[in-house]
Formats: sequence, structure tokens, C-alpha cells
Amino acid sequence: MMKAGSYRKRERKEWGVNGQDQALPSNGSGPPQPDNSTVSRWQMLDKDYLLLRDAVLELMSIDLLHYRTVQMERRLTTYLSRSEQDTWASYTQMLYRQPEEARRFLEFLTINVSSFYRDADKWTILAEKILPDLLNRTKPYGLQAWSIGCSLGAEPYTLAMLLCELASGRRHKIDAGDIDTAVLDVARAAGPYSSNELRELPPRLTEKFIVAADNNQFGVRPELRRLVHFERFDLLQDKAARLYDLVICRNLVIYFTPAIKEQVFRELALAVKPGGILFIGSTETFTNFRQYGFTYLGPSFYQRNG
Ligand SMILES: C[S@@+](CC[C@H](N)C(=O)[O-])C[C@H]1O[C@@H](n2cnc3c(N)ncnc32)[C@H](O)[C@@H]1O
Repeated sequence: MMKAGSYRKRERKEWGVNGQDQALPSNGSGPPQPDNSTVSRWQMLDKDYLLLRDAVLELMSIDLLHYRTVQMERRLTTYLSRSEQDTWASYTQMLYRQPEEARRFLEFLTINVSSFYRDADKWTILAEKILPDLLNRTKPYGLQAWSIGCSLGAEPYTLAMLLCELASGRRHKIDAGDIDTAVLDVARAAGPYSSNELRELPPRLTEKFIVAADNNQFGVRPELRRLVHFERFDLLQDKAARLYDLVICRNLVIYFTPAIKEQVFRELALAVKPGGILFIGSTETFTNFRQYGFTYLGPSFYQRNG
């Protein structure tokens, strides 16, 4: 198993993570794109995609067909243009031969950019409106929450901070899952996190819950770690083991094809208890919420009726 620290260094060096998801280059932001002459050379054909899909399924247990969006194809084209291979066929062969490249490719595919209190206005609504109501409903029990697509753990730890602040005496439980086991290693070790990943966290939470580690990196306090249980979970294959008062799934469904998005929202909806909340990303929309018995509370928040 790769050490958490070495994984983090590699991520930064090779993908230049700057706090932005890198899968959405269509608006001109994101990573530099190859010029048009090079794009055509590396352009993906259907047969290339299927070949790559077979390799990724076999080597990484991820079905790329569900992620086949225009953005994903553009990212893949950019990726190949930066590699030493000239064709998708030769690149796919290389994946089988070189486990290290397969690991790197998985990191690229899963886009694990995340940070504490990401999109601060939404977390403030959660802290000031949603959680007080949920905690009232579930009194005297602890809150049962699920953070899926939790990446490096910043999201479930942010929730743990808020629960400690609002109702510290109760036995809260946060299940956190991700398809990528390398990010889960970092999450379980509670870091190291960079100051960039903490930039949106309100100072009072930083003071209370963040601890300094080596090399200008940071970790979270042990009481938060005790609240969160991390486990590999593939939203496209696995079923939630139980129902939750709060389900958080942010900045993940954007990467799926429309048909798969629909399927994923159905699974997420089924995991929410009556009266519970589904918290999604700022750019995501749960279009069929009524069909699943939910009420729209405002951007990013849906409540299951009952
Ligand atoms: C952009 S990150 C979002 C992290 C966090 N939710 C946030 O908003 O800051 C997307 C995460 O979803 C994970 N992911 C991708 N496909 C997944 C799947 N099928 N099941 C579970 N997690 C998945 C990736 O590994 C990555 O860590």
C-alpha cells in the first residue's frame, strides 16, 4: 500500500492541483489544452474507448462507460497528448505492463480535488439551518451521516467539526466512502492537508479542530477521527448498507453520463431517511426530486418528505 505522504506529493507534482476540479475545461479554465493539430492525432475513437474501458475495468474495477462525457473524452485526449505514447492502443497496452502508470491514470480519472468547508456559503447554511433542524428531529440520538465521494476526507471531517460544535455530547456516526483507495489512505490518516485545502474553513473551526503537522502541513484532532469511518465504496456498484439522516454527495455526479446520473440520484435518494437531507454540489441538480418524494429546500439541499 502506498504511503499517504508520498501519494500527496505525487498528486501535486504531476497534476498541479490548484483547488479547481480539472474535468471541466470547456469554459476555457482548467488545464492547458493541446492545440488543434495535436488533438486530432490523439482523438479517441469508439474502439479506443472500448479498449481502454476493458483495461480500466480489469485493472481498476471502474467502468469508464458510465463516465463517457464530452469533458471526459477531452481530458483523456489531453492526457494522451502529454504521455509518451502515440495511440490509445499502445497506451492501453502500457497500462497492463506498468502498474505505476495504472496508478497514475487512476488518480487522473478519479479527480479527487477537495477541501474543507468547500463552497463556504453551503456549509454555513448546513451549520445554521439544516443541522439544527436535523439534530432537533433526531434528539437524543446521534446523527447518522454518509459522505460519498469523500476524497481525502475534508468533507466528512468538516461535517464532524460542525456536529462537535452543535451537539458534542451525542453519538454521531459518519460513514465516508470513495472509489479510490489511495485517497482513503490519506483520509484515514487525517492528512496531511495543505493550507490551500483549509483556506475556506472559518478561523474558529481551524483554531478548534486543526493541528499542525510537519512541513507546513496539517491534520485534524483525534475526536473528529473517531466520528468518521472510511470504507471503499463504488456508487455505481455497491448499495448503501443503511438509511441516513444526512447524505452528502458533492462534485461527483457531474462526471457521469445523464443516464447514470439518474441512476445515482435514485440510489442516493433511497439512502435518505424520511425527514432526512440530501446535500449535493453547487453545480449539480436533482431534477426528479419530486418523483422520489423530496422537497427542494434551496440550492444544494433536498429533504425527503415524511
Ligand atoms: C471532485 S472529488 C469531490 C470530493 C468532495 N465530495 C468535494 O466535493 O470536495 C470526486 C470524488 O469522487 C470519487 N468517485 C468517482 N467515481 C466514484 C464512484 N463511482 N463511487 C464513489 N466515489 C467515486 C473520486 O475518487 C473523487 O474522490
